[in-house]
Amino acid sequence: MNFKEIVNPRLFDIPDYDQIHVTQCWQDPSIRREMSNESNYAPIPAVQEAIRNIADKANYYAEDATYAVSLRKKLADYCSVKTENVALGNGSIELLDLLFQVLMAAPDKDEAILVQPDYSAYVPRLKYFGWKINYAQLSAGLDKAAEQVMAAISENTKFVLLSRPNNPMGTVMPREEIARMLETGKLIIVDEAYIEMADAGTSVSEWVNKYDNLIVMRTFSKGFCLAGIRLGYMLANPELIRFINRSRHIFNVNLAAMAAGEACMDNLNDCRKIFKKLVDTREWLTAELAKIPGFRPIPSQANFVMVDVKESGKTATQCVDYLLEMGFFVRSFAKKAGLEPDTHFRISVGLQEDMEELVAHLKDFVEK
Ligand SMILES: Cc1ncc(COP(=O)(O)O)c(C=O)c1O
Repeated sequence: MNFKEIVNPRLFDIPDYDQIHVTQCWQDPSIRREMSNESNYAPIPAVQEAIRNIADKANYYAEDATYAVSLRKKLADYCSVKTENVALGNGSIELLDLLFQVLMAAPDKDEAILVQPDYSAYVPRLKYFGWKINYAQLSAGLDKAAEQVMAAISENTKFVLLSRPNNPMGTVMPREEIARMLETGKLIIVDEAYIEMADAGTSVSEWVNKYDNLIVMRTFSKGFCLAGIRLGYMLANPELIRFINRSRHIFNVNLAAMAAGEACMDNLNDCRKIFKKLVDTREWLTAELAKIPGFRPIPSQANFVMVDVKESGKTATQCVDYLLEMGFFVRSFAKKAGLEPDTHFRISVGLQEDMEELVAHLKDFVEK
């Protein structure tokens, strides 16, 4: 059978997933995983216990995500919205996929706006669902973001999607810029995957109460140390939440994920201790990287730091390869739209002692 003749032709433009680095890390646990912005801290003990305690109920379907009243209520309280504003997903990426499907009315005509640079996983999924993509360049600065986004808006634009804090830069667009974008009346999707590591007051989640065109994406994969459990949520107008729930599979969120999410919400003080450790180490890492000749770390509000090495005499690829030899997997941004070729790489903030070792290796390398 010639499968090329029968599959969705949009798949021809989408490359195979390249997640071999994750496999490499599972196969060699001595490698420090600083490439995917996971947490290197284990989930807090109460969360581990909640997962163990639910194990003997795994023969039952979990409460369906449309209801899951207890978890959704806790998330609503955490984000200062109402329970009916919350939808649950198998990671926030599943909810983005659902949004891309639910909002698609005219394939190859409906347009999405992305900023550059931003999270690389957005593009292939948008393409797969038939979205045309327009890019807003942010080179004029984050305080000009709304202007740049508005310049990219056309009559076919349905939504603007951006991560805030931005992945991969760790920077945060001012709230006023988001407010200006919301005033256009287009849907604005703000992906707050890294919000737990951002300064207090950064989130725009509460604005869901006053703007029906605001959608906020959240995840347990980063600050809550639960990337492998797959739990994300979305905050939006209840009518849109209902359409999202109609479009998804039943039982999309598994029993262990729900138990883990509730345990996080019930033990927020312990979770906040981890957020603080990540922030403290990030600040230490940024200061130390700045001392390496020619390195320019970008101040970050997430659990990673992007470094510009253009002036160091080394390329990003050389730094990334050297760190891998030393047992650290970091992420190269040698070829990223919006960034000069081979000048940037990104380090996920790991344990303090690992970051001390990583910085020592980088110092040796650059001084060599
Ligand atoms: C901006 C952003 N959104 C979403 C995700 C993925 O979140 P999840 O694990 O909840 O699917 C990531 C992961 O790197 C991310 O950087």
